Amino acid sequence: MLERLEEIAQEVESSLAQIDSLEQLEELRIRYLGKKGVLTQVLRGMGGLSPQERPLVGKAANEVKARIEGALTARASTLKELEKARRLQTERIDVTLPGTRQFLGTKHPLTIVREEIEDIFLGLGFMIVEGPEVETDYYNFEALNLPKDHPARDMQDTFFFGPEVLLRTHTSPVQVRTFEKTAPRVPLKIIAPGRVYRRDDDATHSPMFHQVEGFAVDERITFGDLKGTLTTFARQMFSPQTKMRFRPSYFPFTEPSAEVDISCVICGGGGCRVCSHTGWLEILGSGMIHPRVLEISGYDSEKVTGFAFGMGIERIAMLKYGIDDMRLFFDNDMRFLAQF
Ligand code: PHE
Repeated sequence: MLERLEEIAQEVESSLAQIDSLEQLEELRIRYLGKKGVLTQVLRGMGGLSPQERPLVGKAANEVKARIEGALTARASTLKELEKARRLQTERIDVTLPGTRQFLGTKHPLTIVREEIEDIFLGLGFMIVEGPEVETDYYNFEALNLPKDHPARDMQDTFFFGPEVLLRTHTSPVQVRTFEKTAPRVPLKIIAPGRVYRRDDDATHSPMFHQVEGFAVDERITFGDLKGTLTTFARQMFSPQTKMRFRPSYFPFTEPSAEVDISCVICGGGGCRVCSHTGWLEILGSGMIHPRVLEISGYDSEKVTGFAFGMGIERIAMLKYGIDDMRLFFDNDMRFLAQF
């Protein structure tokens, strides 16, 4: 039996040389020292020994066990060292290599332009207000001097949810909502940016687009104030050389009304493809707020007057960046969006 023990110890020692992973080492430990291991089996046989032999074999067995354990531990620490060295070798990095760049998001061009418009008007003392996109017929049309049978309703092809509820076709209802809250107090200088909806879809129209409404109400507000405000805006937005042209127009909620053109941002007024060789680009609708609109919402039109205008953010952005298809704003193509 003592010989068998010595054999076992030598077996383990010679196996150890071939072992090159901690997993294999663990297998070896279980094979010899585990519950059903070789050494354990041998010790079970001790029952058949004489009382004289038993302490001798017991002592030898304990020594062999300690010897095996010592050898296993020694091999384990060698393997750990080897593993560490191998990892240092394979995981070596060149700290002088340039880092991988993280792609940072960019603002959407429409957001950039909206914020620019807001900044200009904030600088002129206007306040920003927002209104709901789901509107009632009253705010979108009726209170803006557009009764149910008014032919000018045709100017804005509307998405209706029911006879009285719709998606706002412009930001002008924010005028009415604001007047209801503030009348008869003046002065009032507001811009109202937001989404609007019309049943249109082609290269220059989208069923959802963005407008910025602007309006001011006070004693003795004149058309001159409107011209001055919009001229200041256009020169800051485009260039100090920008010229303005007011063309008589019609909106039921303003009287008189004007469409406003700026000198072409591409050719400067000489005539090119973008301005259809006219030298001018239309950028917004405007006018003096119709006395009836002021009255409906609580202002005394004998005491106060006001101007209003509404511009399309997409249109301004297209002119500013030379974009010829409005749908590009909504396709979410990173190759386009990342350019701003
Ligand atoms: N609401 C008009 C439109 O969407 C624009 C406008 C606003 C015109 C304010 C005059 C005054 O076409």
